Amino acid sequence: MPKVLLCPPDYFDVVDQKNPYMSRESSVDRVKARTQWEFLCSVLQQCGCDVEIIKPANGLEDMVFAANQVFVGEKNGYGKFVVPSRMVYESRQREVPFFVDWFRKQNYSVIELDFGDDYLEGHGDLLWHPDGSRIYAGYGYRSTHGGIQKFADAMSKMGIDVAPLQLVDPYCYHLDTCLCPLNDDAALIFPGAYSSEALATIHKFWKRVHLLTADEAHRFMGNGIVCGGSYITPYITPQLEAILKEEKLKPIVVDTSEFEKAGGSCFCMKMFLP
Ligand code: ARG
Repeated sequence: MPKVLLCPPDYFDVVDQKNPYMSRESSVDRVKARTQWEFLCSVLQQCGCDVEIIKPANGLEDMVFAANQVFVGEKNGYGKFVVPSRMVYESRQREVPFFVDWFRKQNYSVIELDFGDDYLEGHGDLLWHPDGSRIYAGYGYRSTHGGIQKFADAMSKMGIDVAPLQLVDPYCYHLDTCLCPLNDDAALIFPGAYSSEALATIHKFWKRVHLLTADEAHRFMGNGIVCGGSYITPYITPQLEAILKEEKLKPIVVDTSEFEKAGGSCFCMKMFLP
C-alpha cells in the first residue's frame, strides 16, 4: 500500500506573493479549502493509499503544500533518507524543521546540505523517475542551479544520477507544474516551461512525451497525482483525457480552487513515502 503524507489546511492562507498565481485580492475560503483537502485525502485512500498526517503549525500559511519541505528517497545500502530543503521564503523555511522531526521519528536518515546562498525546494523541483533510476531537478525560479548541483553531488555519492532542467516560465516556477511522470516510459510535460537543452534532456530519457498546452499547464493539469491506475487532476480536457487513455490511466477530478490561489494543486499537497 503506497504511503502518502499530507498536512491539513488549518492555517492555510494567501498573505503574500510568492508566485504569479498569488495576489492580495484572492482571499481564501477556509471552509471550502478544508472540504477540498478532505476530498483529496479520501480520493487518495480510494486509490489505495495509506494517508499519514503531519500536524499543521499556526502562522505557516503554506504548510499544506507538503511536497516541498524535504526530498525523500530510498537507496539500497543506505535505507530511507530525506534531504531537508532550503526554501526561498522565510515563512516556508520555518516549515522545514517540522517535517525533518516527523521523518526522524520514522527513522529516516537526514542528509543536511550546506546550501550557502543557494536554494532547493524538495519535490517541488525534484522528481524521481518512477523506476528510481534518476532524479529530475528543475531550477531557475525557486531551486537555484547551485542548489541542485549541491544536491546532485550528495546523490552521486549514493550512485544516484540527477538530470538538471532549466525552467523558463514564471507560471511554472516549480518542476512539478510542468513535468508529471505517468509511468516508466511516459511523461506529461508543458514544453514552453523549459530551455531547449532541458527539453532535449526530457526527450532523451522518456519514450513517450505527451504535451500539455499553456492553458492546461497553467491550470495545473500537469500537477496531477498518479496512483492506483488513476490520474488525480484539478481539471480535465478532451486532449488530456486522450493522453491518459493511451497510458491506461483513469482521470479523477478533484477541485483544488482554493489552493490554486496560492499557486498549488494536487501534486503539491502530498509527499509519497518510500
Ligand atoms: N504558495 C506556495 C509557494 O509559493 C505554493 C507551493 C506549491 N508547491 C508545489 N510543489 N508546486 O511556495
